[in-house]
Amino acid sequence: MKNAFLSGEKIYLRPLEYADAPTLVGWMNDPDVTRTLQVFRPLNEQAERDYIDRVSKDTNQVGFAIVSRRDDQFIGTAGLMSIDWRDRHAAFGISIGDKTKWGLGYGTAATALLTEFAFQTLNLHRVWLHVYDFNTGGLRAYERAGYRREGVLREAAFREGRYHDIIVMAVLRDEWRAARPKPARAAAESTDGRPARAHRGTRAPSRRAGSRSR
Ligand SMILES: CC(C)(COP(=O)(O)OP(=O)(O)OC[C@H]1O[C@@H](n2cnc3c(N)ncnc32)[C@H](O)[C@@H]1OP(=O)(O)O)[C@@H](O)C(=O)NCCC(=O)NCCS
Repeated sequence: MKNAFLSGEKIYLRPLEYADAPTLVGWMNDPDVTRTLQVFRPLNEQAERDYIDRVSKDTNQVGFAIVSRRDDQFIGTAGLMSIDWRDRHAAFGISIGDKTKWGLGYGTAATALLTEFAFQTLNLHRVWLHVYDFNTGGLRAYERAGYRREGVLREAAFREGRYHDIIVMAVLRDEWRAARPKPARAAAESTDGRPARAHRGTRAPSRRAGSRSR
């Protein structure tokens, strides 16, 4: 593990580095990955470096690289964006760019770990997200991490030749506390059963995930 900021059983979250930019370029130009994101323009390495820069300086977001603990591989990004320090809410976003890692529980684990960080470290009250109605894996991962469907933005997204609904989901602090779902709790705990480690104070970064738009 290198520069682990938050650690769970399956994954750890570390700061994004410029060295990650080439990998991000591959992911962010892969239509299989971007079809469920807001990305629709080609992105080059400079754009990725700029993104990493922005995310490290903006104190209203936190962004991380997701690393699988099994093989210490960088597999995606996740973050909290648009943090509202007065009303105490933030938007959650995630992207597992390494397609070989889909469906293995990494999305659920990263969502659980970052949601715990939002409530336990940042003292937020609500974490929300937008997800396309056809993103079955995303909907399921968020539900497993304790998010509830709140509403539908009808035909708000044009993808692959037609309009799709955007589902609004959120989890409130009390709901999360009362009903931390089993996979989320397991994912957010270390192997010896102790709570996940949150290092130091708040830093800044984030992005792309559900709401990566550029
Ligand atoms: C959406 C995403 C984060 C889900 O992460 P993941 O690691 O694949 O999800 P998990 O393995 O934790 O799966 C959660 C559940 O969804 C299911 N699932 C995952 N992908 C699925 C798919 N394509 N179709 C149907 N079910 C799927 C899993 O089987 C699992 O179900 P279970 O709880 O019944 O076992 C990931 O696929 C991804 O990053 N995709 C590209 C970018 C993206 O869509 N980001 C989110 C935008 S809102």
